[in-house]
Amino acid sequence: MQEFITDTTHDESRQGEAFSPAVKTVGHYSKHFYIESYGCAMNFADSEVVAAILHENNIGATAEATEADVILINTCSIREKAEERIRTRLAEIKKYKKKKPGLIVGILGCMAERLKGKLLEEEKLVDIVIGPDAYRTLPQLIEEAETGQKAVNVLLSRDETYADISPIRLNSNGVNAFVSIMRGCNNMCSFCVVPFTRGRERSRNADSIVAECEALFREGYREVTLLGQNVDSYYWQAENGEATVTFAQLMERVAKISPLLRVRFSTSHPKDITDEVLFTMQRYENICNYIHLPVQSGSTRILQMMNRTYSREWYIAKVNRIKELLPDCGLSTDLIAGFCTETEEDHQASMSLMEYCKYDLAYMYFYSERPGTLAARRFADDVPLETKKRRLQEMVDLHRLHSLESMRRDVGKTFKVLIEGESKKNSEQLCGRNDQNKVVVFPKGQLRKGEYVMVKINECTAGTLIGEVINN
Ligand code: SAM
Ligand code: SF4
Ligand code: F3S
Repeated sequence: MQEFITDTTHDESRQGEAFSPAVKTVGHYSKHFYIESYGCAMNFADSEVVAAILHENNIGATAEATEADVILINTCSIREKAEERIRTRLAEIKKYKKKKPGLIVGILGCMAERLKGKLLEEEKLVDIVIGPDAYRTLPQLIEEAETGQKAVNVLLSRDETYADISPIRLNSNGVNAFVSIMRGCNNMCSFCVVPFTRGRERSRNADSIVAECEALFREGYREVTLLGQNVDSYYWQAENGEATVTFAQLMERVAKISPLLRVRFSTSHPKDITDEVLFTMQRYENICNYIHLPVQSGSTRILQMMNRTYSREWYIAKVNRIKELLPDCGLSTDLIAGFCTETEEDHQASMSLMEYCKYDLAYMYFYSERPGTLAARRFADDVPLETKKRRLQEMVDLHRLHSLESMRRDVGKTFKVLIEGESKKNSEQLCGRNDQNKVVVFPKGQLRKGEYVMVKINECTAGTLIGEVINN
């Protein structure tokens, strides 16, 4: 799940951490796989689709790499650091292969798609390279690899959405789940590798999304996050051409499943988020008041070079509209420091935009040139690394003040909190999130995860609201 992170300099994308399956199924299957995921929520959701495909083919999940016949790494290419991290991990995985020579190692996801067969030359221990649209062929690729051949499938598709596959939830707390509603991206932000690694945008069948959310609710899940690189451009048309579904309509259908099912979504693009979405959020108490609205830069000149297709003024107008229609809405963003040609003045424009928006949460990165992107082809990566890092640090410091202010404003207020489990720091405490996506910690009592409670906030840290349950 999306962690509430106040130190926002992390180099991977916001979900960043690797995970392995919590469910241990050794014994029931002919073979076992171990999977680690890196990068964004889409990758984590994809690993759950991969798990379902492998289970269907009698290959079960294991949480122990040492018990696995197949080790899979679902990779991210968004920044150079993300790829470096995978290469470091691969070097560590070598030791497993030494101990178990028949072990198969597969690279999945965005790095597989970006580097294709080259990965096999660069990383000798890799047996399988498979892109995000080819996961249905993974069982065959594993079979091929077992005969000693290297296997590659990086074909991108215009229509694959894995709509009919019920993901196997990995490492789940049984309360929150990601539901992928679309794949790919048609925006060509000049810095971004995603359109090359994930292909063209396509929307998943709305009925299958609603069915997946209903099933999750029946299994006890109480929060779904609808995922896409640009959820506002979700648009699905039934094959007979009669029914069409927009993102706002989809969200409404999911919200209607039960008032006890919370609905979140990510990511919204400032050029595409509509009033229809904001009005739908207004109408349903269970659609969380929280919008992740990446701005990337506060300078219109830089935004143009980034091909974001909006100006600073357009973005501010969107934020104003959100605040007008949803006054309590939590707001977060992504920012890039040191994009090509960025001057001190451009940087100050980003800082002043942060002052204006006072984000509750911000994910900040310094620009990392990605081979093949529009920016890499058109512009020199000409801001020195020390300058990028210094500007990033200034943004992080400013954001820290804003997030602390935002937390302090909540002291004394009471929030409805969905309990997600024990607090990581103290097993006598429970933890959950409020509507605005802030982490709330409070004494356990007789409460259990999956329940809603009213919590009065007594104090806060930079990342957590601390309170007590009150009678509701
Ligand atoms: N689709 C979303 C959007 O439009 O904002 C998210 C895309 S990406 C998975 C998450 C974030 O990574 C971006 O919003 C951007 O801030 C950052 N990012 C993407 N490419 C980058 C690059 N080349 N260097 C640094 N940060 C980058
Ligand atoms: Fe990348 Fe832009 Fe698409 Fe987001 S909207 S995934 S930043 S190209
Ligand atoms: Fe990374 Fe691919 Fe997501 S590049 S951020 S895993 S779409």
